[in-house]
Formats: sequence, C-alpha cells, structure tokens
Amino acid sequence: MKIALIKGDGIGPEVTEQALKVLYAVSERFKCKFEYREALLGGRAIDETGVPLPDETVDICAGSDAVFLGAVGGPKWDGLPGNLRPEAGLLGIRKALKLFANLRPVMLFPQLRTASPLKAEVLSQGFDIMIVRELTGGAYFGEKKRVETKDGIKAWDMMEYTSREIERIAGIAFGIARKRRKRITIVDKANVLESSRLWREVTGSIMKDYGDVETAYMYVDNAAMQLIRNPGQFDVILTENLFGDILSDEASMLAGSLGMLPSASLGASKACLFEPIHGSAPDIAGKGIANPLAAILSCGMLLKYGFGMEKESDAVLEAVNNALDKGYRTADIMQPGMTLVGTEKMGSIVAENILI
Ligand code: IPM
Ligand code: MG
Repeated sequence: MKIALIKGDGIGPEVTEQALKVLYAVSERFKCKFEYREALLGGRAIDETGVPLPDETVDICAGSDAVFLGAVGGPKWDGLPGNLRPEAGLLGIRKALKLFANLRPVMLFPQLRTASPLKAEVLSQGFDIMIVRELTGGAYFGEKKRVETKDGIKAWDMMEYTSREIERIAGIAFGIARKRRKRITIVDKANVLESSRLWREVTGSIMKDYGDVETAYMYVDNAAMQLIRNPGQFDVILTENLFGDILSDEASMLAGSLGMLPSASLGASKACLFEPIHGSAPDIAGKGIANPLAAILSCGMLLKYGFGMEKESDAVLEAVNNALDKGYRTADIMQPGMTLVGTEKMGSIVAENILI
C-alpha cells in the first residue's frame, strides 16, 4: 500500500514522524507493508520550488493509495499573495484529488474529561459527534476578487454551491448517519444566505431516501452555542466548508485540545487524504512539545477509511487509550498528577502500545 507523505511546515514534520512510528509498529505487528513517497506542499514547497503545490506532488498523491499530511503554513509566508500562500497548496491538493467530504470525529477520551475547559456536568452526559464538512466548495473556492471603487477597495469571496455539490456530500453524510445513531443536524444560515436555502432544498429531497435517519436543521450561530451547551444532542453534523472549519475548531475543545482531532478527506479519487485538524502551530514548532495524537489518530483513520483495515485502526485507537490510561500527557492536555511528555515520547509510548 502506497502512502504519499507530506510532512509540511511548523510542527507538521514533528507530528508526522510520530505518526510514522505508529504506522511502523502496525506494520510490524500486523505483518503488512506500507511504502512511502515524500511530496512537497505548502511553505517547504514554496521555498524549494517557488509554488505551494508542485505538479509532481499532485502526481505522487494521485498515484498513491492514501495521502498523509502533517500541517502547512507559517508567518514566513504570510506576506505572499493569496494564491501563492502555503494554504493555497492545501486547498489545491484537496481540489485536485476531488476530496469533497471531510470527516472530523469529535469524541472524548474519558481520561481527558477534566482537560476540557467545559464543566464536567456538560461533558458527563458524554458525546460522540461526526462533523461532515463539505471541502471543495463554498467561499473557499468561489470567485475571489478585488476592485477599486469610489469608497476604496472592494473585495469579495463568493460563497457558491451547486445542487450537485450539495447532493454528493449529503449522500455521504446520510450514509454515515445510518451507520451511527441515525441522527443528522444540517447546519446553515438559511435565514440569511441563499446558498443555505439551496442546501435546505437539496437535502430536503435526499432526506426522503433516508427515512430511518432523523433530520434537523440548525442555524450556525445556534449550533455554535449548542455545541458548548449540550454536545450530547449531536450525532452527525453536516455543513458547508467555512462553517465546518469554524465549528470543528470549536468542537475540538470538547475533546480537550485541538491537538486531539484527526480528519479524513474522501472523494472521487482513490487517494484519500488524512490530516490532523490543527495547523502548523509555528509558535511551538521545533520545541518538541506538540501533541502528536491528532496526527496519530489521523493514521488510525487512514487505516480504516483508506485501506479498510478495521482491526489495525482499532489497535491505534486502543494504543492512544492505553497511553492516556498510563497517565502520559503532552502540555496541551496536562493535568495535575499526570506525567508530562514531549512529542517524541508520546509517539513512542503509543507505538509500544500497538498490540494485536
Ligand atoms: C483546516 C485548516 C485549513 C482550512 C487551513 C489551514 C487552510 O484550518 O483544515 O481546518 O481552513 O481548511
Ligand atoms: Mg480549520
């Protein structure tokens, strides 16, 4: 099985190294073989090739069975025009591989209940949420422009969706809900946005094919509040690109830290992409203190969604569980009485805990 490897910028390479350790342990213990090909994207690609997404990277990724990505971006490249920034590389690879469905599971390892800033009584009811974020449409990919006007410069990012784009992401989200607790909340801003009204129309007709799934609509401002007030009410959340970006960072705090949330991006091509939802965290890059668990859990998703290796994927989840049970914590999830470890050590402990 061929894996394209994009280490990226900032803490990207550090957390990727730990994810690789864990994959290595999986291949040893479960007797399977992964082949890696490294590809450049984001800041490093800009430095080495002049563009954030070299053609060669697209070829390597498209020719692989899965893509793993650490994180991209950093202040060094902040001054570049939008289409040459590291983030443009990330959006470019998502688009090139047609990865329109981004799955962001938000679950609480019970050991981290007190690491979350939320009150124990909110978390004690438990929650297990799957955010399904549309990934190749909306304001991220609509027309972007600047023009001179008599009132100064005017700029816009068009939030646009076709019914086809909504249909295909809704099909995935309803399918996932059917295999879970059969509840879907479609998050939008249909009281204001025309694109949201189209989402309601299209999902309203798809809903009829999924009579067993309970469907509710919620405005995004309300959803932002409900996630903190009563996270247990959600099962699958389906939403457009920008809302999904924002709500998933918010939801990560339910899990204790942004450093805990993995993601899988699926779509039309065989190569799916797996990446932690956190960014490159330039402020802590190179210090050896980043939490590698989101990257490691992303490898768990790679095994499950990329290769259909359920046992191996469960072993990764279990290994993370064991490391937390034994009291190991990186700084972002540190609690009194626990053992503080750095990036490397956390990776090694999880790798050692991969058991058949
Ligand atoms: C994410 C990130 C990216 C996004 C950035 C880095 C472009 O925030 O994956 O959530 O906005 O999609
Ligand atoms: Mg984000």
